Amino acid sequence: MSDRDTANASAAPARTAVVIPAAGRGVRLGPGAPKALRTLNGTPMLVHAVRAMTASRAVSLVVVVAPADGAAEVRNLLDAHPLADHDSTRTEVVVVPGGETRQESVRLGLAALPDDVTAVLVHDAARPLVPVDTVDAVAAAVREGAPAVVPALPLADTVKQVEPRTGEHAGEPEPVVATPERALLRAVQTPQGFDRVTLVEAHEKVALEGEGATDDAGMVERLGVRVVVVPGHEEAFKVTRPLDLVLAEAVLARRRANDGF
Ligand code: C5P
Repeated sequence: MSDRDTANASAAPARTAVVIPAAGRGVRLGPGAPKALRTLNGTPMLVHAVRAMTASRAVSLVVVVAPADGAAEVRNLLDAHPLADHDSTRTEVVVVPGGETRQESVRLGLAALPDDVTAVLVHDAARPLVPVDTVDAVAAAVREGAPAVVPALPLADTVKQVEPRTGEHAGEPEPVVATPERALLRAVQTPQGFDRVTLVEAHEKVALEGEGATDDAGMVERLGVRVVVVPGHEEAFKVTRPLDLVLAEAVLARRRANDGF
């Protein structure tokens, strides 16, 4: 019997948990607080991201991976904000310290999961506005048996593979190596969903190289496990650069207008 069968056969009900890596410094956003703690319309990005997860009925636990030296601050911050829209939501939110790379932070989040969790979503704090329908679709695909699921969108831009010019050659024109057919490409978002045993195996077997994996599904692919794509959403974009903050606040303003506030 595999570990997964054992987990499913246990008396406790199967549970879906979310790991939110939020330990990044967010240097590309410019100087200031760690990215997850920057505010959108006065509310920290991380709080928006946690709310996006607790909004899904499929999710019963959220593990937030905080900067290693900032776990207490993140706990206080989360305690200071309502994390769910509905009183009926009883989603537990725990905070653990993170690591040097995103890959290490996710691994530390996985290590904090209780035994009865059989499905795991990994969601970047940097995608605070993902709609609940996208979260539900990913969770449902995992529960229906897919070992790895990623939400993704077709690309607007054509993509070129180049020979990067770095170091003393930085800024020089970069030779184009190839132009992949755009219709075959997808831009990948989060939450990415996994059978727990599969994701843990990927984190145990795929070595940490350089800055580590930026994408959990990519690690699972390297195990030879099939990864599938479900439709992503334009509001699940990653807040990376200053202009993304402007866009995120515009999305929130549109939602508020639509909700009649
Ligand atoms: O830097 P990037 O935008 O790729 O980060 C993606 C996510 O990984 C962010 O939510 C960030 O907080 C998180 N991260 C982390 N630990 C690190 C680096 C990044 O949890 N050491």
